[in-house]
Amino acid sequence: MKKIGFIGIGKLGLDCAEVFAEKHEVRGYDIYPRVSNSVKVCSIDEVVNESEWIFIAVPTPHAEGYDGSVPSSHMTPKDFGHDAVIDAINNVNRCAKDSKKVVLISTVLPGTTRNKFVPLLDKKHQFVYNPYLIAMGSVKWDMVNPEMIMLGTEDGSLTGVAGELHDLYETIMQNNPRYEVGTWDECEAIKIFYNTFISAKVGLVNMIQDFAMKIGNINVDVVTNAFARSTMRIMGPKYMTAGMGDAGACHPRDNIALRWLAEEYNIGYDLFDTVMHAREVQAKNLALFLVDQAQRHSLPIVIHGKAYKPDVEYCIGSYSTLVGFYIREAGLPVVYVDPLADDRANCLDTIDGPAVFLWAHNRKITYEYTGNTPDTQPYCKIESGSIIVDPWRKLPVDMPGVAVLHYGNTRT
Ligand SMILES: NC(=O)c1ccc[n+]([C@@H]2O[C@H](COP(=O)([O-])OP(=O)(O)OC[C@H]3O[C@@H](n4cnc5c(N)ncnc54)[C@H](O)[C@@H]3O)[C@@H](O)[C@H]2O)c1
Repeated sequence: MKKIGFIGIGKLGLDCAEVFAEKHEVRGYDIYPRVSNSVKVCSIDEVVNESEWIFIAVPTPHAEGYDGSVPSSHMTPKDFGHDAVIDAINNVNRCAKDSKKVVLISTVLPGTTRNKFVPLLDKKHQFVYNPYLIAMGSVKWDMVNPEMIMLGTEDGSLTGVAGELHDLYETIMQNNPRYEVGTWDECEAIKIFYNTFISAKVGLVNMIQDFAMKIGNINVDVVTNAFARSTMRIMGPKYMTAGMGDAGACHPRDNIALRWLAEEYNIGYDLFDTVMHAREVQAKNLALFLVDQAQRHSLPIVIHGKAYKPDVEYCIGSYSTLVGFYIREAGLPVVYVDPLADDRANCLDTIDGPAVFLWAHNRKITYEYTGNTPDTQPYCKIESGSIIVDPWRKLPVDMPGVAVLHYGNTRT
């Protein structure tokens, strides 16, 4: 039996504390009077000093009018409030006579824990960021049957206190949950972007509902149920690897044409424009990263793969040429290597000397679902002194004579 303390026993914290209390000795502190049959509600001093573990479940409130129940998309973006978390940390520092295992549950945006909270906590304490995917109405059930448990540590490893927290959860879980271990920042991102995936999914199906209402002869359920059964691409892990943008003969042009449909039927918003705009800015961000590398090292830029995907010749809708557009817009030349590409403009067969390469093609990722998975082999000799920017983060970083940069991995 472990001694556990909760700071903040509101809608989330009280139920979670009571779940722990079925197996452990649990105390709780709140600035608001709370009652519980199984959790001892007491002073902050007693919670801190009588507990080995301290869970912080205080609010991280949005500003007035930022909960989504009234229109807010026209308003200035604002972060959550952090005063209660800071107050809880200060209370741990002030009261604790010895080292504590501090676990923050409250939802915060990526980067907050590292930048704002950890610097405040006395160094003698250990810290884990451990957000919950729990819904109102089923807190206690969700707590012991989570889809996953996120354990966030400074370097993303399951060492020390994070391993102990894993063992503590094993004493109460009913569903043998999956543990996702990452840096504080990665766990903040898993929690908050998990919610964004749900918001985006609901936004998309409701958009189809809007089209059904405007166009006629469409039952939205026929359409969305077809997607719900589409386990090859839509409902499964495919397209879950960040890398090059959506491309090809169909996807970009379909979305571009759908902008017209949204306008034609006066849908009132244009998600296609938003998606395509994001795609363009993402290509520009990647281009500027390549430009920066090229300028720092005085090397030319080569895009390795011009066709919109490996093993085909088609350059229609190619994300490589979109990235190339933004490289040229930034004032640098760009060439391509691709033995198959049907558009030979600026395509070379060999590259003399070192260069910054964009590893645009990854045939393993593109064709994994067919069972055809050999890696992309270099389309030309890559001279020593080159830099390969791998947006798929699959190339080994210890290639002799070549620096491989994994675009999208900023872990140090
Ligand atoms: N409610 C959920 O379903 C849910 C799910 C996942 C994550 N979260 C996150 O958990 C956090 C808490 O959410 P909640 O729904 O329980 O909020 P809540 O407002 O119901 O509960 C927070 C409790 O903390 C207390 N409190 C406020 N300031 C305090 C302080 N300085 N010291 C001690 N206690 C203090 C409040 O009196 C309240 O009882 C938020 O960050 C929220 O986003 C909530």
